[in-house]
Amino acid sequence: MYKLIAFDAYGTLFDVYSMGQLAEELFPGQGQAMTLMWRDRQIEYTRLVTMSDPNPAGSKYYLPFWELTIRSLRYVCKRMDLNLTEQSEKKLMDQYAKLTSFDDSLKVLKTIKEKGLSTAILSNGSREMLTTVVESNGLKPYLDQVVTIEDIRLFKTAPQAYGLLLKAFPVKKEDILFVSSNAWDALAAKWYGFDVFWVNRLGHPFEEVGEKPNYEGNSLSKVLEVI
Ligand code: LAC
Repeated sequence: MYKLIAFDAYGTLFDVYSMGQLAEELFPGQGQAMTLMWRDRQIEYTRLVTMSDPNPAGSKYYLPFWELTIRSLRYVCKRMDLNLTEQSEKKLMDQYAKLTSFDDSLKVLKTIKEKGLSTAILSNGSREMLTTVVESNGLKPYLDQVVTIEDIRLFKTAPQAYGLLLKAFPVKKEDILFVSSNAWDALAAKWYGFDVFWVNRLGHPFEEVGEKPNYEGNSLSKVLEVI
């Protein structure tokens, strides 16, 4: 029986790929490809700054996730030869700040709270961007804590990032179910010692290294079947 259900934010509770529509308007025919590459580059930058100085006191190369998101957008547009005007950048980042949650995010969090369990977000996101996106989607009342790696300046998949949950809640590793739609995140959390639920909305294969997740489902709602 789990005591804490902890969720990844971007891609898991909040629909990052909804950015594709706006990107498509700005860059017809290239929006989908651009957003995919944007997301990959954003995550690559988090790994780059963390791995290049995995100091427990924080990476000296650390930049907030918001900033890495902007830098990766600029990189990808240059790489794809897309003219990213100041105005388009602002439009995209304004939308990123207020990403919509998936249809079932609120219901799932609410149901977990009604069962008497604790809920949290554990995210690479900076505190300010997480506060904005949580509040604009009305999720705040159903989250006990929003935990960000900002304080340790090391991004997931550094073990210290997952360890933040044990500092934030009086629970043991085995009391936690970690939920992510990012296979790499689910795998790293599993390696850290949590049970994990992989939300596989697109029917992708799981990673070819490491252990399989404890649970897999094609929507967030499926989490309710295992708690
Ligand atoms: C996060 C990214 C990895 O919210 O989805 O941490």
